[in-house]
Amino acid sequence: MIHRDAGTPFPLRVCIGPRTIRAVSRFKRVGAERIFSPKESPRVCIGPRTIRAVSRFKRVGAERIFSPKESPRSVLFIGFAMAGIMEMMQWGDWRVTVALVVVALVTLYFYLTSNMNYWSKRGFPQIPASPIPIFGNTFKILTGQANFTEMFDQLYKKAGDQPFVGFFQGSQPVLLVKDPELIKRILIKDFHAFMDRGFKIEEDVDPFNAKGLSNLNGQRWKNMRARLSPTFTSGRMKAMFPLMYSCSDVLLNCIENEVKKNSGEVVMEMKDCLSCFSTDVIATCAFGIQYVSWANVDLDDLAAQAMLFFAAGLETTSSLSSFVLFELSKSEEGKEIQRNLQEEVDSVMQEDGGKITYAGLKRMQLLERVVNETLRIHPPAGVLSRIAVENYKIPETDLTLEKNTMVFIPTQAMQNDEKFFPEPKKFNPDRFLNKENYNHFAYLPFGDGPRLCIGKGKIRFDAGPTGSGCTSLQV
Ligand code: HEM
Repeated sequence: MIHRDAGTPFPLRVCIGPRTIRAVSRFKRVGAERIFSPKESPRVCIGPRTIRAVSRFKRVGAERIFSPKESPRSVLFIGFAMAGIMEMMQWGDWRVTVALVVVALVTLYFYLTSNMNYWSKRGFPQIPASPIPIFGNTFKILTGQANFTEMFDQLYKKAGDQPFVGFFQGSQPVLLVKDPELIKRILIKDFHAFMDRGFKIEEDVDPFNAKGLSNLNGQRWKNMRARLSPTFTSGRMKAMFPLMYSCSDVLLNCIENEVKKNSGEVVMEMKDCLSCFSTDVIATCAFGIQYVSWANVDLDDLAAQAMLFFAAGLETTSSLSSFVLFELSKSEEGKEIQRNLQEEVDSVMQEDGGKITYAGLKRMQLLERVVNETLRIHPPAGVLSRIAVENYKIPETDLTLEKNTMVFIPTQAMQNDEKFFPEPKKFNPDRFLNKENYNHFAYLPFGDGPRLCIGKGKIRFDAGPTGSGCTSLQV
């Protein structure tokens, strides 16, 4: 009766929904503690605790679940559930427990699925596969059945001819972009709206990685990028070249010794060898010449950038060199390319007095095409990411991408799509003979725009000595 008395602070007496929950909290605050006080009886109803939990849940930002605007189903459900629980107060304890478990499970289900119409509600095309609660469209990657790039290959194929599609990474709505024109806008023309990569690393948890250039955001990224950019200017590359060349001497001596020990023929794991070579090159450059250009960077930042250069440079360059050797030895066509490459290297070396020089390397055109084609088929980073740092109206549509939405560009999938590269499985360096032959924004092994790979200019010189050196071996 007290509850139904208009004199008590309950403004609503029939429907139990968010407003009632709010009213209950208010009621408690104004001093009606008595009704729900656990002191009253040890077998007191556990409903108030649920209500307290619900209001705490709301306070920490789960407003969406209970908001009629977002999900009327959830409100109805909570209303009925709460009414049911109140009713069951008279029943045995086990029923209440079972009911609460069911309520919790169904609430969880509604919570997990409440956002799954995010893209359709905003009019965006969506991957034609229903997202699974918790896992979204990324079940395979979250359960270890596919790696990141494989998963993006699959999503890319599922997306069909759409220029962009929404999907769910776990429960987070993210956008996959596959149209070269829109990619160009995101990476270059409208870079101001997509300046960050979208990785958030807490500085107090992992200070080194958080401070690394590739994880920095906004103005901090701009400042650091401006400081580090001169690291790979052509003048510095020229200065670094003899150091790199000496690293390739070590690599070749090591391989030749192994060959001699095994009377002319040896099976070696080239990826391991080339990882040692890449480590050598990066360490030599990072702690040799580059140190001079980093003189104004503070010590913590210096350590973070050095670590990042190792992380970003080691696996990428060693996997590139390994795949060059793999492609040159895989088939008869590959071996033919290998022979042509060897002729090119020999002839350029002859012109330069028997040595590989910085200028000579630039004249090795076939070598460059071989590197480009290897990066097309086996890009070490198969996906680019950006995050919208402001609301972004997608050109020539009425659609607006909301701030803080992640955008993915599936470079590996595009570079191996016959729409952009005919006979994509064929290793054919000559497709890079003419820049007009392919769409530049469908070929992005180093990314593009102000945030493209800072080491791009250096790769030719990493892969160069390896590629040219290794052509003197029969792979
Ligand atoms: C084959 C070799 C390499 C490949 C394929 C590669 C690829 C990439 C790609 C795709 C990105 C992202 C670009 C974007 O988001 O638009 C990137 C960023 C980056 N790479 Fe590389 N990379 C290679 C070698 C290196 C090397 C040798 C270094 C350093 C010595 C390096 C340092 C970096 C850094 C610092 C970034 C972040 C740039 C920024 O956020 O401003 N990379 N790389």
